[in-house]
Amino acid sequence: MKIAIDGPAGSGKSTIAKQIAKNLNITYIDTGAMYRAITLYCLNNKISENNLEMIENALKNIDLEFINNVIFINKVDVSSEIRSPLVTNNVSNYAKIVIIREFLQKKQKMIAESQSIIMDGRDIGTVVLKDADIKIFLTASVEERARRRLKDLSNEGYDVDKNLLTEEIRRRDEIDSTRTHSPLKKAKDAIEIDTSNMTIEEVISTIEDIIRRG
Ligand code: CDP
Repeated sequence: MKIAIDGPAGSGKSTIAKQIAKNLNITYIDTGAMYRAITLYCLNNKISENNLEMIENALKNIDLEFINNVIFINKVDVSSEIRSPLVTNNVSNYAKIVIIREFLQKKQKMIAESQSIIMDGRDIGTVVLKDADIKIFLTASVEERARRRLKDLSNEGYDVDKNLLTEEIRRRDEIDSTRTHSPLKKAKDAIEIDTSNMTIEEVISTIEDIIRRG
């Protein structure tokens, strides 16, 4: 079974995908975490998004591992660092680089080959799991997405201004949906769910109903 969940920043993809994976006892892969990890590596090593040669070299030196939802770069657990506002503000600029996308998409396809999986991201239904059994496209108003993100960040100890956060989400959606290589887009055969006025539980049960109906 292959399930693809796509949607813009803060639409609830990862919370929902994680819970469905648990309920169905299948693997969950957060592809955004991979783009964040590459971004973190580049920022830490002062590799600019314009320096393709250095990026190409970096990709050869990055050992990216996912073990039980914990992400490691060269054996170091970076799961919390990849959520920092610095990474969030830069990730879309690295995620539009073709060699980074091809590197990660290949990795994601390989992970999905051998097991039942639920993957979330921006290009899962359109590219990575083009033949997924179920494709879901989650949306929500930008205000609601900013409100959710603010709550998450404050739980993690970050104090962020709501207006700045709303702007950041808008900007990231814009970059993600206008890039040339595998942009954020609803797959033709995806089911769109607007979660603006839904609880997490309601979204999960809606998707599980869709899965049951096949
Ligand atoms: O959780 P949030 O919605 O903030 O984003 P994320 O899923 O962690 O993804 C972070 C960024 O990675 C996105 O804004 C995209 O720029 C990029 N991304 C992508 O391009 N393709 C994916 N399949 C997943 C993420």
